[in-house]
Parts: sequence; C-alpha cells; structure tokens
Amino acid sequence: MDKFRITGGRPLRGRVSISGAKNSALPCMAAALLTAETVTLHNLPYARDIITQRRLLEDIGATVLTPELRTHKITANDIELFEAPYELVKTMRASVLALGPLLARFGKARVSLPGGCAIGTRPIDLHLAGFQFLGAEVGLESGDVVARAPKRGRLSGGQVNFDKVTVTGTENLMMAAALAEGKSVLNNAACEPEIVDLAELLNKMGARVRGAGTPTIEIEGVEALGGAEHTIIPDRIETGTFMVAAAITGGELEIKGCRPEHSAIVISKLRESGVEIEELNQNTLRVRCGAAGLKASDVTTEPHPRFPTDMQAQYMALMTQAEGRSVITETIFENRFMHASEMQRMGARIQIEGSMAVVEGPTPLTGARVQASDLRASASLVLAGLAASGETLIDRIYHIDRGYENIEDKLVSVGADIERIRDSVTGPLTKSGIQELESGNQ
Ligand code: EPZ
Repeated sequence: MDKFRITGGRPLRGRVSISGAKNSALPCMAAALLTAETVTLHNLPYARDIITQRRLLEDIGATVLTPELRTHKITANDIELFEAPYELVKTMRASVLALGPLLARFGKARVSLPGGCAIGTRPIDLHLAGFQFLGAEVGLESGDVVARAPKRGRLSGGQVNFDKVTVTGTENLMMAAALAEGKSVLNNAACEPEIVDLAELLNKMGARVRGAGTPTIEIEGVEALGGAEHTIIPDRIETGTFMVAAAITGGELEIKGCRPEHSAIVISKLRESGVEIEELNQNTLRVRCGAAGLKASDVTTEPHPRFPTDMQAQYMALMTQAEGRSVITETIFENRFMHASEMQRMGARIQIEGSMAVVEGPTPLTGARVQASDLRASASLVLAGLAASGETLIDRIYHIDRGYENIEDKLVSVGADIERIRDSVTGPLTKSGIQELESGNQ
C-alpha cells in the first residue's frame, strides 16, 4: 500500500486551488440514474470514490463518458441491473445512493446492506424507513436490501420524518420523492451545502424541490426527469483542511476556488483559535497563523450549519499546537477518534473520555511511523506530519486518495516536503494511476 513520507517543520506558503466536493459529486452522479437522458457533471474531484461510483453506474448499465478529466457525461438509458453489488458497497458506503433513484424510476432496487466502517456502524435504517413512508416495500434477502414500489411500480408522495439528521438519507429520499406520485415533505432533513447542490441539479433535470438547505424540504413528484448540465460545488472540507495546513505550519496560504460561505462555522472557530483568515473575494481566502499564536478552543461536531464532523480530526491536529486545553466532542459518529492514538505516537497529549477528546497544547510533535484509518484521519496525520520535526511515514494512504485530489502535489506546490512511496501492488493514484484504475488494470 502506498505511503506518504513527510519531513515537517516547513511553513507552507503560496496558492492552492480547491477541487470539487466528493460528497456532492457522489449523490449528483447517482441522480443521473433518474433519467434516460444525459447528465453532464463538471468539476468532479479526481479521487478514488468518484472512480468507484463511476464503476457502479457502469455495472448498473449506464454509459459514462469523460470528455475531460473532471467532467462525466452519464447516460442511464440502458439499465439492465437494478442493484448495487456487495463488492462495491463494501468499498464505498455511498453506493447506497443508487437505491433511491433505481426505486423511483424502475420501482425496484437491490443494494447490498453496507457494513460498518472504521468510524462507526453507520446503519441505513433511516433511508429504508423513508422509502417505506413513500409506499415502498423493503425487505432483507441474503444481506441485500430489496425494495419495491408495489403500486404500479411507482412511489407515492408522503411525509418523511427522519428520527436523526442523515446526509445521504436526505439525498436518497430527495431523489426517490422526485419521481413519486404527489407531494412529499422531508422533515428533519440535513442542511449541508451538498444537499442544496443536489437539489439544484434535480431541479435542472425538471424536478420540483423546494427548501433544500433547511430542515424541511418539499418535493412535488413529476412523471419523468430529463438531462442537465451541472458544476459541482467546491469541497468545503478540503478548504478547511488547507486552512489548518496554513495555520499548523505557521505559513500563509491563498485558498482559491472555494466558497467561504460553506465554511462559515469552520472559519469562525479557527479565528477563535487565533488563525487569521481574510476573505479576499467570494471564492478566495487568505489564511495564516496569527502573531499571537494559537490558543485552545473547544468544539462540538453537529449537523450543518454547526461544526462538521469531517473537520474534527484536522481540528484536533491543530489543537495539539494551541496554548491550553481544548475539549473536542464528537456527536455524529461513535468511533471517530482513531487518529488520536497515532498523534500520541508523535508526542501529542490527548485524553479520550467517551465522545470527548481532551487535548493539551502546545506539544512539539516529532515524526513517526503512523497508520491512516479513514479518510479524514489520514488528512489529520498529514497535517501533524507537516507540523512535526523530522520524518513521518503514513501508511495506508489509499484512505486519503478516496476524497482528496492529488493532495501531495498541492502540498508540494506550496513548499511541503512530502512524497508518495509507491507500492508495487496497489500502484499510485497519480494521473497514470487513475487511468490504470479506469482501464480496470487494478
Ligand atoms: C455523510 O455520510 C458523508 N458522506 C460523511 O462524510 C459525513 O461524515 C456524514 O455525512 C456526516 O456529515 C457522504 O456524504 C458520502 P449520516 P452519511 O447519514 O450520510 C446515523 C467523509 O469523510 N445514521 O449523516 O453516511 C449514522 O450512523 C464522509 O467524506 C443512522 O443511524 O452520514 C451517524 O451516526 C465520512 N441511520 C449519523 O446518523 C441511518 O439510516 C449521521 O450519519 C443513517 C445514518
């Protein structure tokens, strides 16, 4: 498996451009299953999960053309399979996003029940309950979820009440309700910017979605949806990751192609911790560590617009360099502190107490051999390595390749000493690596 070798202690300076949001690209790609016409998506991030989602669409029978690196033209006009197979779902839970579109358009769908992952059990019971609110029959057969629309193969609009805020659950139900007969209302819906982006695409396709971005989303079902062209929003988590990279290395970065309004709570929390952040224009931020240095500040992860769980690990890395004690409370996932033990091996002082991590800082970090456990934990270990003195070797960085586009190239361009050590087995996820993946060589 590929590794990163980082020699830390160098302030990052220069400009980085933010790629498209993985967590918007994945539902938008699934939305293409709702129509037989072509859906063209621009600004897709060049990351492994996008390749996996593309494979899923092609396995289902859609045609995916890539006229240029970050554009996919998806045409689902010859669907033969109405299921997402285990081998794909087990590598990427977001494959469950095929369920809503297949059920809505064809009246049937089969998706392998995703197992848990490193950060938690991550059930999809709320997705399935939602489909039942729309009249679907849902059962479990040999580890697969099987869903059917009994009334003439079409779902019926209705009230969908989510017991808990679920991002992909909201996305799955938006797509299902778009073709249901009559009106649906999603209550306690997720409000993430990725939900709004999906709603914009659905409405371009002819859907009638109102209220995306608020806890109540109203959807008037239509008979059929058409093709559309859409540009994916920038990745707010990559934006936050690079903001932390500037602060934790004592450098200064200009972050281009971002949407500051999507990162409002992260910007405000980082400012509270002493990070200087200037909004140069509506898609550029200038970020540097304040002259007074970093100071500890507590944070609790919650659904948008509160502090995102996907920034928790990166924030923890920063707090190891902040003066004082910070309490980081994770309320979304039950096991999302695995990066803490790896940072402790680099000298960080972190005490885990249930859903809370107590960080004492500042502590000088020293390079070590560490292991990535999930996507955002990997990013936090890169940040810690950049701040540490000496050499850090991060194993299993395929996790980071899932959601960040060529992160090492971007970091090198602003002065980081980071290189990818390729493993002959898995092969690199550089441009040639992705092409090999696409051609199925791996
Ligand atoms: C999305 O995952 C993101 N993934 C995650 O990003 C993100 O961490 C998460 O939302 C929270 O913001 C994508 O968008 C592809 P949830 P999702 O359903 O939708 C529980 C990353 O690093 N729950 O909002 O799977 C669940 O266990 C990834 O990019 C149920 O109990 O998350 C969790 O505790 C990691 N039953 C909470 O709700 C359900 O049916 C929130 O999960 C669904 C969820």
